[in-house]
Amino acid sequence: MAKEEEFINNRRAGKRPKLTQKTKDQERESICNGHNNQWDLEENQYLHNNNNNNNNKFYYPQPVLAPSSIVVCDALEADYPIIYVNTSFEIFTGYRANEALGRNCRFLQYMDPHAQRRHPLVDPVMVSEMRRCLEEAVQFEGELLNFKKDGTPLVNRLRLQPIHADDGTITHVIGIQIFSEAKVNLNHVSYPVYKEKCDHQFDCADDDHPTKDGGDFCGILQLSDEVLAHNILSRLTPRDVASIGSVCRRIYQLTKNELVRKMVCQNLWGREVIGNLELMTKKLGWVRLARELTTLEAVRWRKFTVGGAVEPSRCNFSACAAGNRLVLFGGEGVDMQPMDDTFVLNLDAEHPEWRRVSVKSSPPGRWGHTLSCLNGSWLVVFGGCGKQGLLNDVFVIDLDAKQPTWTEIPGGSTPPVPRSWHSSCTIDGSKLVVSGGCSDSGVLLSDTHLLDLMTNTPAWREIPTSWAPPSRLGHSLTVYGKTNIFMFGGLVKSGQLRLRSGEAYTIDIGNDNPRWRQLECGAHAGGGTQGGVVPPPRLDHVAVSMPCGRIIIFGGSIAGLHSSSQIFLIDPSEEKPSWRIINVPGQPPKFAWGHSTCVVGGTRVLVLGGHTGEEWILNELHELCLASKHDSDF
Ligand SMILES: Cc1cc2nc3c(=O)[nH]c(=O)nc-3n(C[C@H](O)[C@H](O)[C@H](O)COP(=O)(O)O)c2cc1C
Repeated sequence: MAKEEEFINNRRAGKRPKLTQKTKDQERESICNGHNNQWDLEENQYLHNNNNNNNNKFYYPQPVLAPSSIVVCDALEADYPIIYVNTSFEIFTGYRANEALGRNCRFLQYMDPHAQRRHPLVDPVMVSEMRRCLEEAVQFEGELLNFKKDGTPLVNRLRLQPIHADDGTITHVIGIQIFSEAKVNLNHVSYPVYKEKCDHQFDCADDDHPTKDGGDFCGILQLSDEVLAHNILSRLTPRDVASIGSVCRRIYQLTKNELVRKMVCQNLWGREVIGNLELMTKKLGWVRLARELTTLEAVRWRKFTVGGAVEPSRCNFSACAAGNRLVLFGGEGVDMQPMDDTFVLNLDAEHPEWRRVSVKSSPPGRWGHTLSCLNGSWLVVFGGCGKQGLLNDVFVIDLDAKQPTWTEIPGGSTPPVPRSWHSSCTIDGSKLVVSGGCSDSGVLLSDTHLLDLMTNTPAWREIPTSWAPPSRLGHSLTVYGKTNIFMFGGLVKSGQLRLRSGEAYTIDIGNDNPRWRQLECGAHAGGGTQGGVVPPPRLDHVAVSMPCGRIIIFGGSIAGLHSSSQIFLIDPSEEKPSWRIINVPGQPPKFAWGHSTCVVGGTRVLVLGGHTGEEWILNELHELCLASKHDSDF
């Protein structure tokens, strides 16, 4: 039986199971009793979120644990001068309001109130990230070293929130600071100590790299190392930084600096990706890692086995990565039994093995659903086919909680219609996006919905677009460039027929008026990689986004073809994107469709499951390694 027919036949008719919706609003109301304005609530949440040690960003409120310090800066004036500080700010920092007003908050990075520069222990990557967030008018959250007026070091867990006027202009930025004691050795300087003035003028000139032009030194090279690194190099791409090193010895030295390289990678790839890659850099360093991820010189396949087992056996489950853990939920057991169990494979362990997560209660069993990771340790399940038919419910679990518990998220009054074989992805670590799939009546869908799990009362909203790609199931959604989604393949409705698709579409969810558009992707001709071929149409394939924004496609159900281990690569952000085939040495997974994949640690694409036509493969794992082997490989 054709796979696509199977999809439809496997769908059960019947009512949606009764959802056990727990109203979090009542809980929230009682906890927040006594807090009479939105600020208190905001602060509570922020405090809770950041005192939980698990980066929990979601909307469960907790009682106030400590007063937080607040500053408000004027975003319409140059350099964000402070226009308000609260009493907690004065108490925690030792600076009186009249000593802070009118200044930029960066003075908190100076150990001495009269110092002219930030202390070398203040993480320049974090400072650069703050600057980027302010420039792009997006929220910032991070931790950095600050100093009290008397020089005492403080850890500042800081959130910067831009405030919009009715016309959308950013008028103010609010900073919420949670200060705590910093246990740092101020004599141990781990970040580069940049020199105040340029004293390298004569170092710059050598036979190969003369810097004199008609007798004058190049103006840029008279800038201090700090200005060069923070204001110039940090705005370039990793590739540009690699090539600008040939200008002269001094620039070369700066580009070799690991923190400069990290800053550059972070600016382009985002903090989440950088956090994931951090482990890798212990072995490789940012210079090498950035090169390997750009050139793909180290990419290879590897097969490995792990301990434990996902039992009872199943197919049509969904898996995703949460940090260095692989998580699997649900699936279709024997006799089409919808499964409701959760398994974790910790790849950081010396001998990784599948373990069933012990939870008090589970979402209703299902298959053909999606499982996505939010913010490191949170997982979210959406839809699928349950015992009594298709589902449109949402459940989240925090794997790092002492007692991980699945909680249903109500989702508001306009949820997507129940569906299975849809596709989903997460944006900004907090927004779940769902598209397409197959509805109760066997109809293919073309809609796209978004659920922001960071709001107080998460509510689904359909993304209104004047045009949408044809309805489909079994397609993939991949995120690149923070808010862009790349849709590829699937089983598509075309008139009376259902055909495999090889088309690609993109949408920028961060845009005020997001629009789907079809990508005209040619086949790359020439270069180091093999050109001239576009990926054959397919469904149930693997699509993963690499840290540098390129997307890899392989596997899936392809009409009459059995060579799906070919890997296709595309950079959708290019002006004229084109497909390339990359030849990867090593042992690829067997030809199959319905593989489940996830990217672990930023550089390891893990492939599990898959159907060969005869059997379901479950306990065989393959890894597409994007960077050189590292210590935690097993
Ligand atoms: C509202 C607001 C609050 C801020 N609070 C802090 C803070 O508490 N500590 C800190 O080190 N920087 C803080 N900053 C960031 C600095 O003012 C500055 O933007 C950052 O150091 C990056 O810019 P620079 O590289 O020009 O210094 C805050 C910025 C704004 C707009």
